[in-house]
Amino acid sequence: MSHHRTPLRYPGGKQKLAPFVDEVLRANNAVGWNYVEPYAGGAGVAMQLLLADRVRRVYLNDSSRQIYAFWKSILRQPEEFCQRISRCSLSIATWKKHREVFRRPEEHDLLDLGFSTFYLNRCNRSGVLTAGVIGGLDQESEWTIGARFPRKELIRRVEAIIEYASQIVVSNQDAEQFLLGRVNTLSAETIVYCDPPYYARAARLYLDHYDPDDHVRLAGVIQSRLERPWLVSYDGHPEILRLYSQRRRFLYSLQYSAIRAYAGSEIFVFSDDLNIPRTSDVPYIASALEELPMTVARRRRALPAAVHVNRSERRAAHTRST
Ligand SMILES: C[S@@+](CC[C@H](N)C(=O)[O-])C[C@H]1O[C@@H](n2cnc3c(N)ncnc32)[C@H](O)[C@@H]1O
Repeated sequence: MSHHRTPLRYPGGKQKLAPFVDEVLRANNAVGWNYVEPYAGGAGVAMQLLLADRVRRVYLNDSSRQIYAFWKSILRQPEEFCQRISRCSLSIATWKKHREVFRRPEEHDLLDLGFSTFYLNRCNRSGVLTAGVIGGLDQESEWTIGARFPRKELIRRVEAIIEYASQIVVSNQDAEQFLLGRVNTLSAETIVYCDPPYYARAARLYLDHYDPDDHVRLAGVIQSRLERPWLVSYDGHPEILRLYSQRRRFLYSLQYSAIRAYAGSEIFVFSDDLNIPRTSDVPYIASALEELPMTVARRRRALPAAVHVNRSERRAAHTRST
C-alpha cells in the first residue's frame, strides 16, 4: 500500500497500523466499504486507506472542537489554509498568538481555530497540543520551533487530501452519540475503527480523555449497541482486557515517542462478525498473530461467547504480576 501521511502529528498515532487495517478489510471482503473513526485525532489510518483507494468514504469524528476545526477548515477552505502554511511566521510571538486562539475555541471561527491547532501540533513537543514549544521559549536548543514545519511537504499533504474531499465526512460529536445516532444508520457496508484515549496516562496526551467509568460505558456501547463490524485498539491495561474479555483480541508491543518510558503492550479487539487476518506485513502484528489459534481468527457469529486468551496475553499478565 502506498504511503500517504496525515498533516497532523499525533502522540500514539496509528498510521503505522494502516497496513494491518487494510489486511482486516481484505480478510472481510470490505475493501471499498465506508470506514469510520469515531476518535479521529490525526486520522492517520483513515487518510492512508482513503488515499490508497481502499475505502469508499471516511467518516471522521472527534469531540475536540479544535481537532474538528482542523479537518473542517482544510476541507472547506484549503487555499486559505495552505496560504497560511506558506506565510506564517515561525516565531515565539506567533506561537503565543496561536496558543491564545487554541485556548478559547468557542471565540474563533473554524479556519482560525483549525490553523492554530495545526500550528501548535507542528510546533509543540511530540505534537502534544498542550505541551511547550520545540526548543523552549528561549529557542536555544539544537531543535527550534520550525523543526517539524516543512512547509512544502505539509502543503502537499493537505492538497493530497483535498482531492478526496467529497469522500470525507467530518463531525464533532461525543463518540458514543456518534456511534449510536449516526454510524448505526450508515449502510451495512461500513466498518468502524475505534481508537479511544488510552486507559492509562491519556490525560497528558489528549485534549479530551476518559475516566474509568467512561471506558466501562464505551465498552458496553461498542459490544452491545453498535450494529456495524468494528475493531478497537487500546493500551493493554488489565482493565481493558477485562472489559473486552468476551471478545477475540490480541496483544502486541511497540514504543511511542511521547511516552518513551512506557514500553507496554497494545491490544486489538474485534467484533464477533469479523475475520482476523492470519498474518500481517506489520512485523509486530505478524508475531502476535502467529500465536493466535486458528479457530480464533475466524468470525464467530454463531459461536457461544468464550474467553480466548492467547499466549502473549498470558505472558503479559504474568510479567505484570511479577
Ligand atoms: C487516541 S486519540 C486518536 C488518535 C488517532 N487514531 C490517530 O491515529 O491520530 C483519541 C482522540 O479521541 C478524541 N476524543 C476523546 N474523547 C472523545 C469522545 N468522548 N468522543 C469523541 N472523541 C473523543 C481526542 O480528542 C483524540 O483526538
